[in-house]
Amino acid sequence: MAPSDNFVTLPNGVRMPIFGLGTSHGGGYDQDSVVFALRECNYRLIDTARRYGCEHLIGQAIKESGVPRESVFLATKMWPTDYGLESAIQAAKLSLTKLDTDYLDLYMMHWPLCPSSVNDVRSTLDDAWRGMERLLDMGTCRAIGVSNFSIQDLTELMENCSVVPHVNQCEFHPYQNPKELRAFCRENNIIFQGYCPLANGLILKEAPVVNVAQSAGRSPAQVLIRWSIQNGVVTIPKSIKRERIKENCQVFDFQLSPTEMAVLDNIPTSLRAVDPAELQGKIDDNKPDGYKLPAHLQYVPL
Ligand SMILES: NC(=O)c1ccc[n+]([C@@H]2O[C@H](COP(=O)([O-])OP(=O)(O)OC[C@H]3O[C@@H](n4cnc5c(N)ncnc54)[C@H](OP(=O)(O)O)[C@@H]3O)[C@@H](O)[C@H]2O)c1
Repeated sequence: MAPSDNFVTLPNGVRMPIFGLGTSHGGGYDQDSVVFALRECNYRLIDTARRYGCEHLIGQAIKESGVPRESVFLATKMWPTDYGLESAIQAAKLSLTKLDTDYLDLYMMHWPLCPSSVNDVRSTLDDAWRGMERLLDMGTCRAIGVSNFSIQDLTELMENCSVVPHVNQCEFHPYQNPKELRAFCRENNIIFQGYCPLANGLILKEAPVVNVAQSAGRSPAQVLIRWSIQNGVVTIPKSIKRERIKENCQVFDFQLSPTEMAVLDNIPTSLRAVDPAELQGKIDDNKPDGYKLPAHLQYVPL
């Protein structure tokens, strides 16, 4: 089956592809690769964020690909400096402008953190979520979610919300497999979405991954992506190389056996590609969005 034929259904009935393309600014950005993914490889979910600084390029890539906007599931994220009721709505409008679209398929709060200058973090997160709910009401977003929220973060948000987040996007690969959080999401009808399926390349040479790849006759990256999909977890590997973009989507014509799944389901060690402890500093440092991208790719407001 092609990537576009595989979906999960969000609690509000919106269908989201189980597989898509990541676009974070670490490792760069390549416009031709995004167009290639859409046009030649049938990628139909693009994950981006204000912070990645490439929303304006993604908007152009979708147009350049010729794939109709309504055939692409476009997800982006609000950065914590935008948290607040009115500021959340303004942030969404700016993302729409950059993405050159009039709606988002999914809008997420990027982290359960606020700038250090914020006194009441919890009420600011609640206000931002109210902004998200309003965006959903207005039809600006087809679905709303959060990212990097723990069980406690979700519990606190759910105490005051009208709409339970449709999605929680978190790091997910065999070396970062938060089983309790996934169970909590399942029980509360929140779709768990995984990022960094390859742990940013860090686990491609780990023995259990290489062994399963050899027994499945596939590449380590394909096995890791397939493992997410067989766990029912939406996955968004990133590459800026055409051959890898193609390789990464060729994961719908094979299955990992129960034994192979068990090996990857039960890795005893843990490793994170994204260190949450570094995040507060990144929120407070006031660096521009997409600061890891070269100058010629930066967004220049009209
Ligand atoms: N919500 C959040 O806080 C959050 C945090 C992190 C990431 N994300 C999202 O998740 C997406 C994926 O995460 P990620 O980009 O950090 O990491 P990833 O997808 O786990 O790994 C990307 C890295 O693996 C390499 N790679 C890709 N395919 C490969 C293959 N077939 N063989 C060997 N190497 C391969 C890429 O290099 P090349 O580009 O050179 O191929 C890149 O260095 C992000 O792009 C972003 O959209 C969200």
